[in-house]
Amino acid sequence: MAPASPGPDNFHQPAHYCPQTGPVLIPFLTNAEEKVITTFERIKSTTVARHFHRIKVKKITKETPECVSIEFDIPEEKLELFAYKQGQNITIKSDIDDKRRAYSICSSPLENKLTVAVKRIPDGVFSTFALEKLKEGDELEIMEPAGSFYTELNPAQSKYYVFFAAGSGITPIISIIKTVLATEPESRVALFYGNKSVATIIFKDELEGLKDKYMNRFALTHVLSKEQTDSPLNTGRIDPEKLKLAEPLFSISKADDFFVCGPEAMIFAVRDYLVDAGVESSKIHFELFNTPVAEEKKKEEKQPEAVSGEESDVAITVDGRTYEIKVPYETPTILDAGLDMGIDLPYSCKSGVCTTCRAKLLKGEVEMDCNYGLEDYEVEAGYILTCQSHPRTPECEVDYDQ
Ligand code: FES
Repeated sequence: MAPASPGPDNFHQPAHYCPQTGPVLIPFLTNAEEKVITTFERIKSTTVARHFHRIKVKKITKETPECVSIEFDIPEEKLELFAYKQGQNITIKSDIDDKRRAYSICSSPLENKLTVAVKRIPDGVFSTFALEKLKEGDELEIMEPAGSFYTELNPAQSKYYVFFAAGSGITPIISIIKTVLATEPESRVALFYGNKSVATIIFKDELEGLKDKYMNRFALTHVLSKEQTDSPLNTGRIDPEKLKLAEPLFSISKADDFFVCGPEAMIFAVRDYLVDAGVESSKIHFELFNTPVAEEKKKEEKQPEAVSGEESDVAITVDGRTYEIKVPYETPTILDAGLDMGIDLPYSCKSGVCTTCRAKLLKGEVEMDCNYGLEDYEVEAGYILTCQSHPRTPECEVDYDQ
């Protein structure tokens, strides 16, 4: 799936931050408006592997009875590390169980802050802690932003973006929508947002505010599964029938990009519907929150024959140091083999979703079990998800610093 301006060369390199003077005024919006580049739009001048940082919680906001947003107080000296793109995620390592979890950023880099939303999941250790115990001023271990769930924006372009979100899938979507609307004055946005009821709509007021502010450019349709409404369009779930009903509203052939985030069933239903309708897969961007169970099952069913006994000499570069390890062709993955050797490698979900473990393959070949996070142009440029990669050549070189 390629963004509007694809390619690894411009992936991390918007050209409007001056290291000497900080934020730079640049002509940005039409009608002679100017925009100050915020600290969170500064993009890293060099790419290095991600690590955890202990960061203070600045603000906690109850978004719904079962969801809080957490804004972090990023210190000045770490602002460049935590620069992000709309739609990216961060990994939080919990002090309670030492587990890593990826959360999408719900703020826009234009808002000059970094905020994630955490929704309670049944028996969820961290989400329960975040909702019941976490306080402003507490510290959390967080890793620099990762993820490719965005396209490059350009104030000069006039595009039509269609979004489908369900539940907490709104988190990266609202970040993208806010950024698109503020950055591209000629672009239009349609959002279909599924929830159980009005009470569970995350960012309800903020979405209404955006609708009022961008009346002619932002169309919002709520779909509620446990609340009756007058219109069949607004009642039920985002599934193929609903998409058929909604199609006149979002006009498939006119959309430039589709973004989908939510539970697995909804994501694959929307993706399949759009593909069947003839939409190029490069226009469909989706992000999963959890391990995609159904697709994993399919994958397990068609497991390739084992590649017996062979192993590869894998050179792993991270933080400027290179380690040479042996990695069998079957298991573990390159990431796990590196972790087993005590190398401090970045990862979060280990399910091929969050892209925190992304690295560039400089030599050799690997086979990925699955890839739900990298865009096609990243794969073409040689990027791999090391949590899913198995070597397929006697020698491989993997670089986390690129
Ligand atoms: S750790 Fe999340 S994709 Fe590899």
